[in-house]
Amino acid sequence: MRLRNVPNAQEKLEACSNFVSNPKDYKGKWNKYFENDNPIHLEIGAGKGEFITEMAMINPHINYIAIEKFASVLVKITKKIPDEGLKNLVVILFDAEKLEEIFESGEIEKLYLNFSDPWPKKRHAKRRLTSPGFLKLYKNVLKPGSTIEFKTDNRPLFDYSLETFKDSGYNLLITTFDLYNSDFLEGNVPSEYERRFHNMGTPINKLIAVYDTNNGTTEEHKNDIHSQE
Ligand SMILES: C[S@@+](CC[C@H](N)C(=O)[O-])C[C@H]1O[C@@H](n2cnc3c(N)ncnc32)[C@H](O)[C@@H]1O
Repeated sequence: MRLRNVPNAQEKLEACSNFVSNPKDYKGKWNKYFENDNPIHLEIGAGKGEFITEMAMINPHINYIAIEKFASVLVKITKKIPDEGLKNLVVILFDAEKLEEIFESGEIEKLYLNFSDPWPKKRHAKRRLTSPGFLKLYKNVLKPGSTIEFKTDNRPLFDYSLETFKDSGYNLLITTFDLYNSDFLEGNVPSEYERRFHNMGTPINKLIAVYDTNNGTTEEHKNDIHSQE
């Protein structure tokens, strides 16, 4: 993604009541931070925060944490959060590679990956947020039985990810190559990139994978065959 430098982005983030500058201090204690026992859902690579802010507004009984690597991008979220703040949203400037430094095993109950950078060159494959290394890392913070929801416009990244999820011991619950013409659109909250690509007519791919320590699930895999190319 193209990065525009935003002067004082870090300072602007620190002035936002939803921003947590010392996330390592809350490892294993996020429920204390939120002052409730509600489930914690995480988005990695939240960008400007359109998706996670909307989710937090419509689901007040879920705690949301948004992680983004770049301050110049993340700072835009501060304009989306209502003036009165959002009690169930935390915003963190952090590299997901170090996820275990801020979350205890089993602390997260759902993970969203929206329009992750494709890193098309093979030598950069490890940076893809659906690479085997990251999928292994997520297991160390997800509660068994949790799901990962992944959406992308990028078909090669999606095809790659279908394989990496399966090879990493996740079970695929749903897959579609055209979310907007599938049975899975109800309740969909678009991210900023999603809105942009959908408006351009690009089909949106989506999968939901479950991490199950039994390595087997009774839930049926729903493959949206009508939209496969
Ligand atoms: C293409 S943008 C998508 C933004 C948003 N999710 C959306 O759908 O509109 C991907 C974002 O992921 C962030 N990102 C990539 N790798 C990351 C990592 N290891 N840790 C945290 N954020 C990361 C990038 O900085 C970028 O803002």
